[in-house]
Amino acid sequence: MTVIIPLLLASADPSSQDLSIFDPVSPPAESIRNLSVLVLAITGFIFIAVEGILVYAIIRFRRRAAPGITPGADISGLALTPADESDAPVREAEPPQVYGSKPIEIAWTAAPALIVFVLVLVSARTLWEVNVPPPRPRAGDNTLFVTVVGRQWWWEYTYDHYNGRELGFTTANELHVPASEEGVARPVYLLLESADVCHSFWVPRLAGKTDLIPGRVNSMWFQTNRPGLYLGQCAEYCGTQHANMLLRVVVDSPRDFDRWLEYEQRPAAEDPGGSAGRSALLAQSCVNCHRVRGTAARGTCAPDLTHLMSRQTLASGMVENTPENLRRWVADPQQIKPGCLMPAFGLGDRERNDIVRYLLTLR
Ligand code: CUA
Repeated sequence: MTVIIPLLLASADPSSQDLSIFDPVSPPAESIRNLSVLVLAITGFIFIAVEGILVYAIIRFRRRAAPGITPGADISGLALTPADESDAPVREAEPPQVYGSKPIEIAWTAAPALIVFVLVLVSARTLWEVNVPPPRPRAGDNTLFVTVVGRQWWWEYTYDHYNGRELGFTTANELHVPASEEGVARPVYLLLESADVCHSFWVPRLAGKTDLIPGRVNSMWFQTNRPGLYLGQCAEYCGTQHANMLLRVVVDSPRDFDRWLEYEQRPAAEDPGGSAGRSALLAQSCVNCHRVRGTAARGTCAPDLTHLMSRQTLASGMVENTPENLRRWVADPQQIKPGCLMPAFGLGDRERNDIVRYLLTLR
């Protein structure tokens, strides 16, 4: 198993994916990149100047034999008694002593104060650019509003409004958003909540980290005109599977996004091939946690399965959503994601196969 998981991870997670904050595609991420570059430049300059002077001082003023002493001779006895006025060679080795120079004190107080002041100003401007309170949804605003609930260890997305239209469906782990186009901005506002402990939403190329804190609603925004898949990661330690609480944001072209929205709003598909499995699933305690819209499964504390097969991954981005992985997941989730809240139910082979066959119809 320990060998299989990294392999599956690699396949679900193409190595071409870029998670660098230095390659932003959205205004908040750009502001953060610009601030980072400025701070790195200033602190880098200070580092090089201070270390340079230090290294120069170490070399230039290293302990050397004073005139009249043979190089290589043992002078440790001399150096240990610098206060001894009668010891001429050592007194000559002392540098000039400076006490209380006003101009120097003013310079080294003013320069750091000025640097800190500049850093405070640019940080405040970045905060102002990144932290935009969500507006009210209105018709024709081309804006998407999604409520994100962080849960141990997956993401719940409730689509609230798009372009002023009320949506109100829930999905999990794969966030779809529309791309902006020339002249038409399509901003995305996320309202961030938590159902259990603190999490942090972080997709480095889209925006900075924002925490999801129990009992609080935080918000963040981003927008991009570059369709594609953007990966991220929960950035606040939240328990054993924190490292596997992965984020996938799919930026669709506006037309693809409209199609996706229309599809996701529908109730679950009714495929006759899945009816045995459907009864099996409804008879199990799956229904206490999971929801399949249009059926008696109305749980609210596990991922909504209504369109499970429209998602590319399982277990919050850990493994590819293939029939084989789905079977393994239903058989024993603890083998794939130890510690996750879904236990193995000890289903018989036939029951399990029926349930998986039903899940595969949830397109
Ligand atoms: Cu959720 Cu770390």
